[in-house]
Amino acid sequence: MKLKYTAPLRGELSVPGDKSISHRSIMFGALAQGRTEISNFLTGADCLSTIACFRKMGIEIRQNGSDVEVFGKGLDGLSAPSEILDAGNSGTTVRLMSGILAGQRFFSTITGDESICRRPMKRVMQPLTEMGASISSIHDNGCAPLEISPSRLRGICYQSPVASAQVKSCVLLAGLYADGKTSVTEPVVSRNHSELMLRYFGADVRSEGTTASILPRPSLSGQKVNVPGDISSAAYFIAAALLVPCSEVLLKNVGINPTRDGMLRVCKAMGADITILNEDRSGAEPCADLLVRSSSLHGTTIEGEIIPTLIDELPVLAVLAAFADGTTVIRDAAELKVKESDRIAVMTDNLSRIGCDVQATEDGMAIHGGKPLHGASIDSHKDHRVAMSFAVAALACDGETEIRDSDCVTISYPAFYNDLNRLCQ
Ligand code: S3P
Repeated sequence: MKLKYTAPLRGELSVPGDKSISHRSIMFGALAQGRTEISNFLTGADCLSTIACFRKMGIEIRQNGSDVEVFGKGLDGLSAPSEILDAGNSGTTVRLMSGILAGQRFFSTITGDESICRRPMKRVMQPLTEMGASISSIHDNGCAPLEISPSRLRGICYQSPVASAQVKSCVLLAGLYADGKTSVTEPVVSRNHSELMLRYFGADVRSEGTTASILPRPSLSGQKVNVPGDISSAAYFIAAALLVPCSEVLLKNVGINPTRDGMLRVCKAMGADITILNEDRSGAEPCADLLVRSSSLHGTTIEGEIIPTLIDELPVLAVLAAFADGTTVIRDAAELKVKESDRIAVMTDNLSRIGCDVQATEDGMAIHGGKPLHGASIDSHKDHRVAMSFAVAALACDGETEIRDSDCVTISYPAFYNDLNRLCQ
């Protein structure tokens, strides 16, 4: 796809539902007794993979656009799939489902696309094995496909070496089926959607500091879930409105859970004009409207405890940094290397192509921003967040930008280019 924009961004936008929360609403709805009614569900390919996996295990799921009904059959209501479970490109699906599958009385195999089969699964295999699960990597390379056989699980206190909501959620979900209490301690707190939603469905989940724990065998019951807009999708429009002169955009109903809002804090530190309006903290997941106006930005340092709260926004923050005055340093973000692509290598390579002075480091990058940048041929590596980040960069570059495999945005934001075009009119 070739992109070249000139107009400022103006108007209102409701970004699609949060990806993490959409996955969880299907999974927990399937394990609950009775009907779960979901609104503003994200219809991106990743969340559709989760729906397909649960349908293969006998769960009736009716989908009408972003309205979804899940007819849950309780903790022991899943049936043995007759086929391999396919998570597509979705790390959340493989890792969270591994925890659920470890507690079942049937054998299962789960896999995904080329990118998934390169991503590390030892991080979930290890704690599940400690719990007594029988889980192995078919090619013995610590990656999917994973085979999971029935086993009796015991509760553990797991010290996770990485701040990862996927690892934490996997272990907590296995904990639903374990003998005794299960807890997970992380180096830094990661997104807490599982804890909030499992509690809402009736589980006994506690969070204290960096530790989350769960008691086994709760009776979960179907609920109504209204998924807030995804701050990770809003991030591209926040960045675009900040970069393009004379822009003013109102992003409606965006989730601002404090374990996810690091992008807003970093943008403000860079000099961004963002106003939070109509804050609603009445539900488990806080949300608000975000009014964003073009701003002149300066570099900053992004490191430490804030990293897990903006891990998926680092690619687009790197783009913002490329246009900001001065140097931005990103540290403590080695996790970027094991996302849908190696986002340190892929972002620094593509930023260099548009003329940016950038260096990759072991756990991040240093971006020397502020000089005019030009359009180029971008290789997204089929990573949705890379493609969307460079669509934003294209708005502020001279000349034309071409993005290879630009359609990978369907993973998390099928209408992304339409929404961008509409705001740029
Ligand atoms: C997610 C957690 C994060 C994030 C991913 C979604 C989740 O991954 O990058 O896009 O829904 O739990 P990690 O847990 O690997 O950090």
